[in-house]
Amino acid sequence: MRKSLFAMVSVAAAFAMPLGASAQTYPDRAITIVVPFSAGGPTDTVTRLVAEAMSKDLGQQVLVENVGGAGGTLGAARVAEAEPDGYTLLLHHIGMATSATLYRKLPYDTLNAFEYVGLVTEVPMTIVARKDFEPQDFKGLIDYVKAHKDEVTVANAGIGAASHLCGMLFMSAVETPLVTVPYQGTGPAMTDLLGGQVDIMCDQTTNTTKQIQAGTIKAYAVTTPERLDVLPDLPTVAEAGLPNMQVGIWHGLYAPKGTPAEVVDRLSKSLQVALKDENVVARFAELGTTPSPEADATPAALKAKLEGEIQRWQPIIEAAGVYAD
Ligand code: MLT
Repeated sequence: MRKSLFAMVSVAAAFAMPLGASAQTYPDRAITIVVPFSAGGPTDTVTRLVAEAMSKDLGQQVLVENVGGAGGTLGAARVAEAEPDGYTLLLHHIGMATSATLYRKLPYDTLNAFEYVGLVTEVPMTIVARKDFEPQDFKGLIDYVKAHKDEVTVANAGIGAASHLCGMLFMSAVETPLVTVPYQGTGPAMTDLLGGQVDIMCDQTTNTTKQIQAGTIKAYAVTTPERLDVLPDLPTVAEAGLPNMQVGIWHGLYAPKGTPAEVVDRLSKSLQVALKDENVVARFAELGTTPSPEADATPAALKAKLEGEIQRWQPIIEAAGVYAD
């Protein structure tokens, strides 16, 4: 009897608490960051490193939930509809911008369904293949895919994924459409590449660096202007003759629209602390990337990035004429 009375009083008190008070005591329980791709992939890897460091700063658990499907848009939709209380966040990448054009019936309004917390990192892409794939260099790869376009299979994580975007740039650069094999993330796609079930993939260094260094997959080029310290022998796409394939996969942290400003501010400050965490800096470096600078780990910087990238990719996607719906 006493317990149920106590429970009733606690519930009543919680409802009586003004919203401002909950923002003032934020966070008072575990936070979940939704990753819109499978576990074990590049987005998951980045998020788990950042979540661990934010958890130390915030003094609460920061959990990671993988919600894959539809090139990342299912996970984004989940967060767009979540309670705007700061306890459900989204860590997504360039796909947030490209999906705004690729999906003509998105279940959320990209520019109005989220609050912006800040930019997290910008990750290079690598063009890779199963280790026994015949071509020995990027020129050989281009010649091979042109001669075998109906047989070569390209893995990606669905329309709207970074791997889809980079694959689209590759196919338009070589003027050859190839057979694509979609996955819920490039984590499972990498498993099939390692097993030889799929031929090539364009994926982020946060998922490919260790495999390339171990020789378990073949690598042809990296999409940065300069070669990477962690992969010094890997030529850039410009060196390989395809400068238009330069692309960086920027990642941002978002909250549902309506999340109190003081909560967003607390999250942004925690993200900035996390991006200076020595483990985050060291692990990002091992994986070919760097944390966004403090000035970019802000709501204004992420908002500007997302708006600019939607405008940048819209004509490119419309010219390719590839849509998800
Ligand atoms: C992943 O985390 O699986 C990747 O980001 C998928 C993609 O965008 O290619």
